[in-house]
Amino acid sequence: MIVPAQNANPESLAHLDLEEEIARLKREMNAVILAHYYQESEIQDLADFVGDSLQLSQQAASTKADVIVFAGVLFMAETAKILNPSKLVLLPDLNAGCSLADGCPAAQFQAFRERHPGSVAITYINCSAEVKALSDIICTSSNAEKIIRQIPPEKHILFAPDQHLGRFLMKKTGRELTLWPGSCIVHEMFSEKSLVQLKERHPKALVLAHPECPEAVLRHADYVGSTTGILTFATHNPALEFIVATESGILHQMIKACPEKTFISAPGEGGCSCSECPHMKLNTMEKLYLCMRDRKPEIMLEEGLRQRALKPILRMLEMS
Ligand code: 13P
Ligand code: SF4
Repeated sequence: MIVPAQNANPESLAHLDLEEEIARLKREMNAVILAHYYQESEIQDLADFVGDSLQLSQQAASTKADVIVFAGVLFMAETAKILNPSKLVLLPDLNAGCSLADGCPAAQFQAFRERHPGSVAITYINCSAEVKALSDIICTSSNAEKIIRQIPPEKHILFAPDQHLGRFLMKKTGRELTLWPGSCIVHEMFSEKSLVQLKERHPKALVLAHPECPEAVLRHADYVGSTTGILTFATHNPALEFIVATESGILHQMIKACPEKTFISAPGEGGCSCSECPHMKLNTMEKLYLCMRDRKPEIMLEEGLRQRALKPILRMLEMS
């Protein structure tokens, strides 16, 4: 009998207490579990650190652990490996990619650079190691503005791969940026029309948005920032109701920090709730356990590439 792929169950882990097993393996391996806010809540709850992309790379840069288990997507785990060549870096599912990284192939990025000689290439961390190696400075949503403000005004800036973040930064800094036309499949789905209708039903709610959202959505936001920025704003602002225009995994920490407040996921077209990142959600508790038990999938990078990609990441960490 042929078992369809989706029904194939190579190994049942039902008899295991996964939380306990992961904690045991973590001790035995001297591992640290770093998780992004878009991971499922069970994974966030057992991670040693949960944060935004900048915080996660800072944690990866400073960890004393022998093994880094990255509960996030490939570009994040690659960044951890670039910073820690001698450590074992594990990603529960190697297919956990990112539409921004996938939409910016290195050969095309190189051609983009060659069309603008003399420009500074500031590249969002959501890109491959190859694209990092072709960039001058890496940035995240929480330090991009600060980094752009440190570039001399006579220098022209190329910004890739997120066009919406790029446009937001142009408005914030008043700088002209040449943008790569990429976007995030999750943030691009939020609908201005549905958001306006939702706001009418919740007139007291503040809108919090990630800068990967299109300009038409950002124009309705009371606050625009990284995932950590959104969480911090909601925690300290006295409002009791918030509409959140980013991946819905962040709601877990928002509810934990402010159980008395109401958080509503921003809607997509026709009111659909499509705010889950299919890449981030490829990681599961089972895969987290298996990657630790089997010490794979492991992130591996060719040393020359790693060294070229390291330079713009270190510049980011210095300039943050
Ligand atoms: P931050 O957590 O840095 O805001 O980034 C969001 C994101 O899209 C990660 O993929
Ligand atoms: Fe990439 Fe968007 Fe998923 Fe973040 S939410 S990993 S930017 S596809």
